[in-house]
Amino acid sequence: MSTKIKIFDTTLRDGEQTPGVSLNIKEKVAIAKQLEILGVDIIEAGFSIASKGDFEAVKAVAESLKSTTVASLARAVKQDIDVAYESVKNAVSPRIHTFIATSDIHMMYKLKMTQHQVLERIKEMVEYSKKYISDIQFSAEDASRSNPLFLYKAYETAIQAGATVLNIPDTVGYSTPEEFGVFVKGIIENVRGIENVDVAVHCHNDLGLAVANTLSAMINGATQLECTINGLGERAGNAALEEIIMSINTRKDLYDYTHNIDTRQLTKTSNLVSTLSGIIVQPNKAIVGKNAFAHESGIHQHGVLAEKSTYEIMTPESVGLLQNDMVLGKHSGRHAFAEKLKEMGYTLTKEEVDETFVKFKEIADKKKQVLTKDIEALLTDKIYMVEEAFVMDSFQISTGNKLISTATLKLIKDSVEITEAATGDGPVDASFNAIERCVGFTMNLEEYKITAVTGGKDALGEVNIRVEANGSHYIGHGVSTDIIEASIKAYLNAANRVYQVMNSKE
Ligand code: KIV
Ligand code: ZN
Repeated sequence: MSTKIKIFDTTLRDGEQTPGVSLNIKEKVAIAKQLEILGVDIIEAGFSIASKGDFEAVKAVAESLKSTTVASLARAVKQDIDVAYESVKNAVSPRIHTFIATSDIHMMYKLKMTQHQVLERIKEMVEYSKKYISDIQFSAEDASRSNPLFLYKAYETAIQAGATVLNIPDTVGYSTPEEFGVFVKGIIENVRGIENVDVAVHCHNDLGLAVANTLSAMINGATQLECTINGLGERAGNAALEEIIMSINTRKDLYDYTHNIDTRQLTKTSNLVSTLSGIIVQPNKAIVGKNAFAHESGIHQHGVLAEKSTYEIMTPESVGLLQNDMVLGKHSGRHAFAEKLKEMGYTLTKEEVDETFVKFKEIADKKKQVLTKDIEALLTDKIYMVEEAFVMDSFQISTGNKLISTATLKLIKDSVEITEAATGDGPVDASFNAIERCVGFTMNLEEYKITAVTGGKDALGEVNIRVEANGSHYIGHGVSTDIIEASIKAYLNAANRVYQVMNSKE
């Protein structure tokens, strides 16, 4: 009989620890809702004690989800656990995830605690967490480099104190698949009471082995797999959810396991996380990279045309890669549009449908065919909306190979018009300089990415940027059939984010 595994997603906690990533509350809630649609069992929404922003975000996620378990990380100290509980207590299914390191190296240099003290702390803090809620996960940080005999005692102590999930992290990504499998098996065979709890694994990717280690742990008895979307995470990242799931599904002959993930949501989830985090997915990334289903060589193309399975081990449709299907045109009415949204799996309010329909009409006027991907881009655009202190009214650009590019921009703030002109190294640079003049502060452009949403000369251009301002990182997003307009929208979107944070600190 198949074994059911649980997926624990830590994109919003370990994933957010990716250098340069900083998500605001609205973005975290948007990702969490999409993870719930994807079907993950547990979402680790953050490390609530880390900052007020983290606390608020975990709380908002806990209060927005309908069925998924929401966890907050907490060190094995009372104050962390108190704050973690406060942040998740309103979730339909709340969990506290408490951890302490168990390897000699961590205990000696970081914690400066003896084995005995660590065992005492595990007992006290798991019992303390248990006073609040029943679902308690205990992690032995750096488990894979810990003395196995001591680790067995640590896990046994956690179980006796009431832990319901034991996590075995390969914190520094040091293990190899064979070794990690044997290690997990050893824990399962030697820890008393372990048959009554879930056994989780949490693998980092320092040697590029995180997914392989996770699968090896699964066939050796792990029942909860921890991962992130696109493999985001500290240093080289964590095990990638999409790779674990598609390995299980594609190699059913090897893996007799089931899960709750709707794989058709993988591409959408990956795109959302990539744009909101500002971390671009490498084109050759398995499952969700731009080239993951592209066949470049003639021999491969010929093979796929004759019989897909010659070079395709899974279908693009199975991971939700949309094909360029013609859906609607400029004569399509609101009813047809609303039906299309439903078919695409979106449940929007009447106001949201009306608002998106207006945008759809604007695009349908400029583009011959509006494809599913175009509508997806319009809907994604909504997620990036921030409180717009500065609203774009109009812009004018003059540029040419023998001209200095100049942009004139009119923005509205509190019903007052602000008009500024600036020159630059090309039309985009000139526009960005004009925006900075209008808003009155500067930002450092760290990343700029432009993609055509579909093929064709009239394709929508989607611009994603990342900027740095006052030591923090912000993303910006814009969509238009005109790539300069999309770039202006993206830069202004980032400027409004910076302004919102500046204002909240005043
Ligand atoms: O990598 C790690 O050990 C962790 C723990 C806190 C679970 O992220
Ligand atoms: Zn980790």
